[in-house]
Amino acid sequence: MIKQQILNFLILILSCITPLCAVSSSEAISQSLKQSPDIENGRKIYALCANCHLDNGWGKPDGSFPVIAGQHPNVMLKQMDDIRSRNRENPTMYPFSDAKTIGGEQAIIDVITYIAALKPSSSPGKGDGTRLAEGKKLYQQRCQQCHGNKAQGNNEALYPKLQGQHYAYLLRQLKGIRDGYRKNSNPVMNTEVKPLADNELEAVADYLSRL
Ligand code: HEC
Ligand code: HEC
Repeated sequence: MIKQQILNFLILILSCITPLCAVSSSEAISQSLKQSPDIENGRKIYALCANCHLDNGWGKPDGSFPVIAGQHPNVMLKQMDDIRSRNRENPTMYPFSDAKTIGGEQAIIDVITYIAALKPSSSPGKGDGTRLAEGKKLYQQRCQQCHGNKAQGNNEALYPKLQGQHYAYLLRQLKGIRDGYRKNSNPVMNTEVKPLADNELEAVADYLSRL
C-alpha cells in the first residue's frame, strides 16, 4: 500500500517535469519575470547556444540560424517555453534547450537577459531586392499594427522584433505560419498571412531584412 503511494507520488513528480505539466505561456512569463537575472550565469550558458547562433548572436545569413541578439526578452522567454514544451517544433534545438541540459526557468531568464543585451546584427541575409515597394506596402497594410512602423516589435505584447532578421529565416517562418506548421503563432497574425502568395511573402521578408 505504502509502496503504491510512493509510486503514485513519483509518477506525479515525473509527469510534472515533462512538457505536459507546463503552465500556460503568459502565466509562466509573468511568474518568471519576477525573478532577477544572473547575467554571468547567462553568459556561461550562452556558450552552448553560440554553437549555432554564434558568439555575437547573429546566427547565419543563410537563415539556418536566426539572429537572436537584441530580441525582446519576453518574446524569447515565450519561444523558449514553447520550444521546451514542444509547442514550437525545433528539433535541432531540443537537446540544447531542455531543463536537464541548461537548468530550469531561472537559467532561461539568465541566458535571454544576456542575449537581449547583445548588439543587433548589422549584416543580415537579404533577398534579391526586386520587390521592396510591394513588400513595404504589404507590411504597412497587414503587419505594422502589431510589429511596429520599424518592425521593432513590442516586449510587453510579445510581438517579435523582425527588423534586421535574416531574409531566409523570415520567409521560412512566414510559410510555416501560413501553412500551419508553426503551431505557436498568433491567431490574428495567421489571418493576415493566410491569403498571401509565396512571392508576396518574399517581398515582405526582403523589405524587413533591410530595415
Ligand atoms: C543546434 C543548434 C542550436 C543551438 C545549440 C541553439 N539553437 Fe536556438 N535555434 C536554432 C534554430 C535552427 C532555430 C530556428 C528554428 C526554426 O526555424 O523555427 C532557433 C531558434 C531560437 C529562438 C527563437 C528565435 C525567434 O526569433 O523566434 C531562440 C530564442 C533561441 N533559438 C535561443 C537559443 C538559446 C537561448 C540557446 C542556448 C540555450 C539556443 N537557442 C541554442 C538552433 C539552435
Ligand atoms: C495581431 C498582431 C500581429 C500581426 C497583424 C502580425 N503579426 Fe507577426 N507575430 C505576431 C506575434 C504575437 C508573433 C509571435 C508568435 C509566437 O508567439 O510565436 C509573431 C511572429 C512573427 C514572425 C516570426 C518571428 C520569429 O522571430 O520567429 C514573423 C516572421 C512575423 N510575425 C511576420 C509578420 C508579417 C510579415 C505580418 C504581416 C503579413 C505579421 N507578422 C502580422 C503578431 C502579429
